[in-house]
Amino acid sequence: MMKHLLKLLDCSSQEIINLLNLADQLKYELKHDIPHRHLEGKTLGMIFQKSSTRTRVSFEVGMYQLGGMPLFLSSADMQIGRGEPVQDTARVLSRYLNGIMIRTFAQQEVEDLAKYGSIPIINGLTDFAHPCQVLADLMTIREIKGHLDGLKMAFIGDGNNMMNSLIVGGLKTNMEVSVACPEDYDPDSTILDFAKTFSGFSMHRDPLEAVKDADVVITDVWASMGQESEAEKRKAAFKGYQISAELMQNAKSDASVLHCLPAHRGEEITEEIFEAHSDEIFEEAENRLHAQKAVLVTLMKD
Ligand code: CP
Ligand code: NVA
Repeated sequence: MMKHLLKLLDCSSQEIINLLNLADQLKYELKHDIPHRHLEGKTLGMIFQKSSTRTRVSFEVGMYQLGGMPLFLSSADMQIGRGEPVQDTARVLSRYLNGIMIRTFAQQEVEDLAKYGSIPIINGLTDFAHPCQVLADLMTIREIKGHLDGLKMAFIGDGNNMMNSLIVGGLKTNMEVSVACPEDYDPDSTILDFAKTFSGFSMHRDPLEAVKDADVVITDVWASMGQESEAEKRKAAFKGYQISAELMQNAKSDASVLHCLPAHRGEEITEEIFEAHSDEIFEEAENRLHAQKAVLVTLMKD
């Protein structure tokens, strides 16, 4: 049984599929005004050490729709931002709240919250992983294509939190996963160790090879939050890794394009491709709400 959502590496394939099925059901219920107040009276603390639009708003609205209450906790205003240890923060917050969502830098901080606290912890993005986003991505691909089994996902860009989590989420749901990144920007070594055990995984330096016959092509920013000072160096390193019409010619003719947002048009994706696939990209953004409600219900419902 799932106690936390710290990273997709911890989840079984069945747990991921169960979350996607519940997300579909909750989306249907919301669209048809069917009440689904599974978390009446429950509270979720949301600790943010980095900026957010989608994660913050979708978690807040999601908790409200489920009958619970979200608390936005900016680390700038909390003692954790002044150095109070995460072990103590975890034990204190566990006595007030029913769950915590945290967006931070080090994955270890999220793991420590789970270790020292006694309530469910949800990773709302670390430098290592972005599991909530990838659940929404898998949900979106399944909605568009009708299934995940055997589809080819290609991720072009940085070996960051998104690439790490998409590799794991894709492989665990039986997709073929192909990635392309420049040297020195590989995914995390623990992810590569996991991925190497799957015949459906391949890593390339040439993006044209990675997108060959892909059903879905995904990218993300070249400089993530916390890497702003490396932006220029990264722009040079990622030249040639842009999702463009030319690159898309190598993918299947009906290939989808996803982007977790925020996007930098003219860098990792052209304006033309972004706008041509905007319906998919904004459905993906909406699905954050439904996928996260599935996570909240799974972890916090009595
Ligand atoms: N995709 C995503 O996590 O967006 P935010 O940074 O706006 O939360
Ligand atoms: N890789 C990006 C994702 C933003 C949602 C970052 O970490 O900034």
